[in-house]
Amino acid sequence: MRIYQARDYTAMSRRAANIISAQVIYKPDCVLGLATGGTPVGTYRQLVERFQKGDLSFAETRSVNLDEYLGLSPHHEQSYRYFMQTNLFDHIDIKPENTHVLNGLARNPQAECEAYNQLIRSLGGIDLQLLGMGHNGHIAFNEPGDDFGLETHLVDLTESTIQANSRFFEKIDEVPRHALSMGIKSIMQARRILMIVSGEEKADIVCKAFRGPVTRDVPASVLQLHPDVTLVGDEAALHKLVEAGELVCG
Ligand code: PGA
Repeated sequence: MRIYQARDYTAMSRRAANIISAQVIYKPDCVLGLATGGTPVGTYRQLVERFQKGDLSFAETRSVNLDEYLGLSPHHEQSYRYFMQTNLFDHIDIKPENTHVLNGLARNPQAECEAYNQLIRSLGGIDLQLLGMGHNGHIAFNEPGDDFGLETHLVDLTESTIQANSRFFEKIDEVPRHALSMGIKSIMQARRILMIVSGEEKADIVCKAFRGPVTRDVPASVLQLHPDVTLVGDEAALHKLVEAGELVCG
């Protein structure tokens, strides 16, 4: 595993965008696995800037997203499709038909998940998967205790995730109670993984995930078993890992 420590959120975003840019330059038709949440917003902003300057093109690039709420239309402001459009896709030259996000309105969620697994295979697998990490070590909607052997599947959101997400909705009843999510097995099949973490509130869980035992209690700990992981974090998120003796690059 390679670990890069950046000074702050902006520097972390720039470093992550460098790695994604390199992937797109070396393999223009690569398959990017993309993530939502607060952490990747700056990385996407950097990629948009590079595209606008003419340094980067996504004209041949394909993308698959990690997850989507069940029951939200792609136009709902809290849907992950909407997040991707507004933070990245609407501002770059990626072809709409080459962007893939699970359909939150699927009538048959099980069939939607199976079709998504097939889609990833038909694209030739994911070249680079971008990931954030939740405060409890979750990756995508894979929560503590979940099976490591699953590909894309239907998830019942935990009460704590529903509570945490309620800040984005007017009323707690509006928060979806289910989601579709790539599983740990799907994520582990990506050729390369890029995890980004920011902020002091992630320092303990980052340390547990990368220095502690590989356990279903901390889903991100499974990444210790992946052969090509790059962790990029700011000083606030990485300082406990550094104090524990992990070697990091500046
Ligand atoms: P965040 O979420 O980027 O908003 O901290 C990360 C995650 O829950 O995967």
